[in-house]
Amino acid sequence: MRRANIGTHFTSGSDELTDGDLRDLYSYPADLPRPWIRANFVCSIDGAVSVEGLSGPLGTPADKRVYDTLRELADVVVVGAGTVRAEDYGSVRIGPEGRRRRIESGMSESPPVAVVSARAHLDLHSRLFDQPEVAPIVITCSNADIARIADLANAGAHVVTAGEHEVTTAGLITALDGLGMRRVLCEGGPSLFGRLAVDGAVDELCITTAPVLAGGTAGRIATSPHAQVTAMTPAHVLTDADGTVLTKWVRLPLP
Ligand SMILES: NC(=O)c1ccc[n+]([C@@H]2O[C@H](COP(=O)([O-])OP(=O)(O)OC[C@H]3O[C@@H](n4cnc5c(N)ncnc54)[C@H](OP(=O)(O)O)[C@@H]3O)[C@@H](O)[C@H]2O)c1
Repeated sequence: MRRANIGTHFTSGSDELTDGDLRDLYSYPADLPRPWIRANFVCSIDGAVSVEGLSGPLGTPADKRVYDTLRELADVVVVGAGTVRAEDYGSVRIGPEGRRRRIESGMSESPPVAVVSARAHLDLHSRLFDQPEVAPIVITCSNADIARIADLANAGAHVVTAGEHEVTTAGLITALDGLGMRRVLCEGGPSLFGRLAVDGAVDELCITTAPVLAGGTAGRIATSPHAQVTAMTPAHVLTDADGTVLTKWVRLPLP
């Protein structure tokens, strides 16, 4: 066993990471032949993914910087309907400089949010559907309520079907590929991520460990009916002066 030598201080002294450094550290592989599934989570030291049902209390300044960086680099932000409902998701907001960088690199101004929902049961009066900056995508199932699908489409959502009773991982990836979205950022939640993980579809996991204990009844970042081990290797470990630890893990074998 050895002391890790890949740790990088995030904000302390002369080696403080700039936003440009972060964009380089979190850049997607070039010329992706298929959607690259990156997931991002924050959790407490004791493994809680939320506090009283929300992830906000786990956030730190360093986590927010990486969260914003990951959003700027993504073609699409994929999220489960449970998280959309719990966190009252809205459109992704990219700042003026980020928009400029995206346009210069041939991307859209802001990535759309793609909600995965078997039931297509989403609040049309929520921030995501009420005057969205970018029309949301809803990825649902062929046996979802037809009236709900029609309501979502009428509200401006782009509705895609990718499975019969649930959104299959293969169907999800095919749908994103069909939309030309290969730099995928999955922001959870644990049910969606757990499914992607056991299906061996997670290419990369960015995880922030917030310097807190949370207790409570919150679960882990992944939940699924059965377990499946996937080998991952650390790409980097960043630390902030407040104790936040940010790691990036990539699936083995490396592409
Ligand atoms: N700490 C963090 O970084 C972080 C990140 C995200 C979420 N969270 C927390 O996680 C909690 C939510 O957990 P959750 O497990 O309910 O989240 P989730 O995975 O976002 O939502 C589960 C719901 O998403 C839909 N869904 C997921 N996978 C699906 C699939 N394969 N096919 C069809 N539909 C699918 C279903 O929606 P329908 O019921 O509409 O069919 C399901 O009920 C919240 O407390 C949130 O704050 C924390």
